[in-house]
Amino acid sequence: MNRRIAVVVGGVQGIGFAVCQKLVQDCESLAVVDINGAAATKAAKKLSGENAKVIGLGADITDKAQVAAARKTIEDELGSPTILVNSAAIVDDKRFLESSPEDWKRMIDVCLYGPMNVLHEFLPGMVDGGYGRVVCLASDSYKLGQARLSYYAAAKGGVVALVKSIGQEIGRNGVNLNVVSPGATNTEMRKEREKGLMEEMGPEKYEKRQKAVLRLYPAGRLGEPDDVASAVHFLTTDNASWIMGQVLSVNGGFTMA
Ligand SMILES: NC(=O)c1ccc[n+]([C@@H]2O[C@H](COP(=O)([O-])OP(=O)(O)OC[C@H]3O[C@@H](n4cnc5c(N)ncnc54)[C@H](O)[C@@H]3O)[C@@H](O)[C@H]2O)c1
Repeated sequence: MNRRIAVVVGGVQGIGFAVCQKLVQDCESLAVVDINGAAATKAAKKLSGENAKVIGLGADITDKAQVAAARKTIEDELGSPTILVNSAAIVDDKRFLESSPEDWKRMIDVCLYGPMNVLHEFLPGMVDGGYGRVVCLASDSYKLGQARLSYYAAAKGGVVALVKSIGQEIGRNGVNLNVVSPGATNTEMRKEREKGLMEEMGPEKYEKRQKAVLRLYPAGRLGEPDDVASAVHFLTTDNASWIMGQVLSVNGGFTMA
């Protein structure tokens, strides 16, 4: 039996928190890491009381030194992590021609450079230990392209290429890396974006848009955090030990390839 010592980055809310709720049931310990350190401590408290020891830590994934400090604390308090989920991200709802290099830089910093920092810090311990389960969150916008999400989609496409390529390098060390790519999921991130759209479009146009969006989902509904977390959790288990470098879309049929 391999030890299940988990880290969820971006774990205080939304999909990340739903993943924590699953991992806490079958892991010996769990670290919730987020840019919002106070919320991470609060989330850890909420999750405690199950089987696992849970700690919450603040770290901005755009800053390698902060990620390194979080890793060190986790190793000291929980041991060397064997499970890593990166759910942290931001979204920016803007047409490309109305966006600026500052917008792109911030997006790439958080959504591509951030996962690089996280993987670069946590993978060596897994390689040394000969075991690891890693899941990064992307977005189906990278597959289809999505208006008003161009640089977000570009960063997510980068995450997919990154995960696959690292898998080629370290798969033989017992470390599996995969990607879960959600469709529209009812989280704080989505609610925030929808609020902006509603204000911009007005209620009538927004209502029409909502109906049109729903028609794109053969399952007839949008996702809940738990829908996505179930897939992420599966990929952290040994039932997924021969799944490597894959992108699992969890999206009610929004994309089927
Ligand atoms: N919700 C959706 O519809 C949807 C769709 C496709 C993909 N996704 C992806 O799923 C993942 C989770 O999304 P969510 O909807 O749960 O998002 P969310 O905004 O609810 O949660 C993201 C978390 O990441 C944290 N975070 C942001 N920047 C950070 C940084 N620099 N360092 C550390 N933590 C940081 C936030 O504080 C927050 O707790 C993301 O990678 C997102 O891109 C979500």
